[in-house]
Order: sequence, then C-alpha cells, then structure tokens
Amino acid sequence: MIEIRPRRLRRGPLVRDLVAESGLSLASLIQPYFVTEGESASEPIPGFSGVNRWGMDALSRRIETDVERGVKSFLLFGRAGSKDSEGTPAYAPESLVARTLRTLKSRFGANATLFTDVCLCPYTSHGHCGVLRGAEIDNDASLEPLSRMALAHADAGADFVAPSDMMDGRVAAIRRTLDLAGHSGVGILAYTAKYASAYYGPFREALGSAPKGDRSTYQMDFRNRGEALRELDLDVAEGADIVMVKPALAYLDIISLFAARAPVPVAAYSVSGEYQMVKELARAGLADERSLLIENLTAIRRAGARVIITYAASEMAEKEWVR
Ligand code: PBG
Ligand code: ZN
Repeated sequence: MIEIRPRRLRRGPLVRDLVAESGLSLASLIQPYFVTEGESASEPIPGFSGVNRWGMDALSRRIETDVERGVKSFLLFGRAGSKDSEGTPAYAPESLVARTLRTLKSRFGANATLFTDVCLCPYTSHGHCGVLRGAEIDNDASLEPLSRMALAHADAGADFVAPSDMMDGRVAAIRRTLDLAGHSGVGILAYTAKYASAYYGPFREALGSAPKGDRSTYQMDFRNRGEALRELDLDVAEGADIVMVKPALAYLDIISLFAARAPVPVAAYSVSGEYQMVKELARAGLADERSLLIENLTAIRRAGARVIITYAASEMAEKEWVR
C-alpha cells in the first residue's frame, strides 16, 4: 500500500496553481529596447526575430502600449551614431540615450522604470567595453568614461544605471560619481557575474558592437563558479542595489548561488541568443513558443531570480501569456 503520494498535489490545475512555488508576472520583467536615430524608425534586426531598433518617437509609442498592458520596466541601449577610440559619444549630455530618457521620463514619469546599459562597447571604434592602452584594456582609465556615461544618464532621468563592462571597481566609481552629483536616489543594477558567452550574437548585430578580438580578459570564464561569489561580494560592498547573472539559462547554478547569498535582489538576463534559440525551435515547428518561453523563464525564477530581463516581455504581455 502506497501511503505517500506526491501526485495528489498534481491532480488538477487548481491544486497545482495553489501549491506552485514560483511563477511569472509582468511586474518582475524588464524589456530591453534598442534606440536608433530617426524619430519614427522601426528597423527589424536580421537574426533577432521580432526585435527592432526604434526611433525615439516610435519607442515612446511602443512603451505606452507596454505600460498599458502591464510591462513597467525597460532597459535602454543606444545604437551609436559615431564611435571613437575612447568611446566619448557614450557620455555626451545630448546622446541619443540621454535624449530618449528625457522624452520617456516626461511622458511616463513614475509609470515606467527606466534602466540604461552603461558600457563603452557600442561607442568605441575597437568595440571593447573599456578604453585601450596599446592592445590592452586599461581598467582604471575606463572608470572615468563609464562614470561620466552613468552620470549623463542619471542627469537625463534614468532610474537605474546598469554597468555591463566588467571592469574592476566600476560600481564604486559610478556610485561615488552619482552621489557627488546629487543622484543618491539613482540605483545601480550591476552586471555582476557576466560571462564571456557565445549567446550574445544577435545583440552584437543589433548594436554593431562586436569587438576586435574577444572579451575574455574582463568577462568571466564560464568554467568558474567561485569567482562569481567574489564578484558578488565586491559589487555588494561597492553599492550595487541589484546584482545580475548573465546569461541566464546555462547559468542557473550561479543564479541559485546568488539567491542564497546575496543581501540584495538577484536579476538574471535571458540574453539574445537564448531568446533566438526559442524563436528558431518554434519556427522549425519543433516546439511551441509559448510553452518554451514560460518553461525557460519559470526555471530562471525557480533558480532564484527575482527580476528577469527578457526580450519576450512585451510580446508575452501582448498575447496575455503572462499578466
Ligand atoms: C554590452 C552588453 C552586451 C549585452 C548586454 N550589454 C554584449 C556583450 O557584452 O558583448 C548582451 C545582451 C544580449 O545578448 O542580449 N557590454
Ligand atoms: Zn560592453
């Protein structure tokens, strides 16, 4: 006689919902957007299904619809109009991202939370996330332009800045710069454990930000787990408000480690390649897109991510796959 039967809790949808340990809600998702010049531009990106580069005006209209449907948080990336060896266009006070922030803040105020990616790679001619001295990344010299970029975004209305460069000491440098300028209320979402990954392909196409060479002297080695804890301790000590693991799906163990150890909320970035894998499977008729998306994103939540950055947020809201 079997007395203990776990299947009793799976008997029907009501009981399953009643006892579910995790789930998805739009309130915990962040939708990334790529901004480009040309007010009403809306350019599809080859190899990045359903993701466009948006002109400021077109983006503003799109976000209005998102907000009505329940997507409330957005992560902005700018497609650079010009690049140079130092990445100076990144921190122009009137950069595309700064102008977009002003427009969006005045239109949506507290109804949308605006995050901006802070990194030099879209703006450097060599495509690296920091400045170079000779062929090497100059870590310490990269902190000033990164801090200036964060400040330009905070001045323009960013709620959170999200440094993705992986230079040592950048969270502290940005925190100090923001505080000295009176932006103590602007938060830092740190890309804390950002691995050198092959999953960033479609993104680099979106921004034209592929580096000459690779990023393995600053992004983390995917063989390592202990190193992620070291980065976590540093980012928390330096003042990160939210810590992120990126990519997400192949790094659930790291998310779970952070969830157990971090004194601040943990975010996970379900990156462009993870998103496109789902699109490709669905297109080939090998899986149902909705089921795959929900399964992947729920697994990321189950691992311990409180916040998920996903390119699918807007579409899932439109189709009412998530509320
Ligand atoms: C820039 C940056 C990248 C991503 C986010 N910020 C690319 C990279 O580091 O090469 C990747 C996001 C994605 O693939 O969705 N440093
Ligand atoms: Zn970068």
